[in-house]
Amino acid sequence: PLVTSKEMFKKAYEGGYAIGAFNVNNMEIIQGITEAAKEVNAPLILQVSAGARKYANHTYLMKLIEAAIEETGLPICVHLDHGDSFELCKSCIDGGFTSVMIDGSHLPFEENIKLTKQVVDYAHEKGVVVEGELGRLAGIEDDVNVSEEDAAFTDPDEVEEFVERTGVDSLAIAIGTSHGAFKFKGEPKLRFDILEEIQKRLPGFPIVLHGASSVIPEYVEMINNNGGEIPGAQGVPEDMLRKAASMAVCKINIDSDLRLAMTGTIRKYFAENPSHFDPRQYLGPARNAIKELVKHKLINVLGCAGKA
Ligand code: G3H
Ligand code: 13P
Ligand code: ZN
Ligand code: NA
Repeated sequence: PLVTSKEMFKKAYEGGYAIGAFNVNNMEIIQGITEAAKEVNAPLILQVSAGARKYANHTYLMKLIEAAIEETGLPICVHLDHGDSFELCKSCIDGGFTSVMIDGSHLPFEENIKLTKQVVDYAHEKGVVVEGELGRLAGIEDDVNVSEEDAAFTDPDEVEEFVERTGVDSLAIAIGTSHGAFKFKGEPKLRFDILEEIQKRLPGFPIVLHGASSVIPEYVEMINNNGGEIPGAQGVPEDMLRKAASMAVCKINIDSDLRLAMTGTIRKYFAENPSHFDPRQYLGPARNAIKELVKHKLINVLGCAGKA
């Protein structure tokens, strides 16, 4: 069934694991993820960014996800990733999403609260849950690689007031992760001390980790060995993700790993089969790579296999 993340998070918090939130953009990605979850009986969050909605169209994605729910029978939450306005959140809520993120993390504290609360008021009236964000992730803008030192980590002194005044159902925090495939220049490091302090201030409250792809070396190599060029790609080590999942983190966001698996597989296929041109020939293996990757995450990293 189509569900919110409310029950998922409650059970994940108590059980010391996390739900995987995977970004979806097309049919093969949705099929790969949901077939993996079905095989290991895991609850799922499928998340749609503004860019995904623009690429594939809201209705197409919603109908594909509905098909996946029908085929798998799994509890699946459909979530807007990084909503940047009340209007976008409203459009997704009206269009059947069961969860939205309003990302006001770039705004001053009071403005973030105001915008987030506006979304919460509308969402809760419709039975939809809301993820807010405090603190800024390090990011890569154009060629400027913002180092993790420049990230504005979440201030634990702000979290109680933010959650209380907005009424959000979960909170995304910044502890050193970043989006994309180039997360650390040197040794990977996350501020678990900040996470610990936040969970002390918000007992029982679900925390969300963005930028949590592990950038699996096998797929980086597959890309680099088959005409690609992504030297220095590095993600969050899996043991750190397991540690976060055992703590207050109940939702772990993964997109880049799916992109790398899909691209690596297709590059390799093209290199090995230069005469093939039927898209099913290379999209099939790409979908299968996503399935295997997601199964690995659900079983070995998130700990949510068997929890549906
Ligand atoms: O947070 C970013 C996600 O990876 C989605 O990326 O906005 O390119 O769809 P996108
Ligand atoms: P990655 O780029 O690490 O996969 O993060 C995805 C994400 O946070 C989506 O919101
Ligand atoms: Zn994100
Ligand atoms: Na957890």
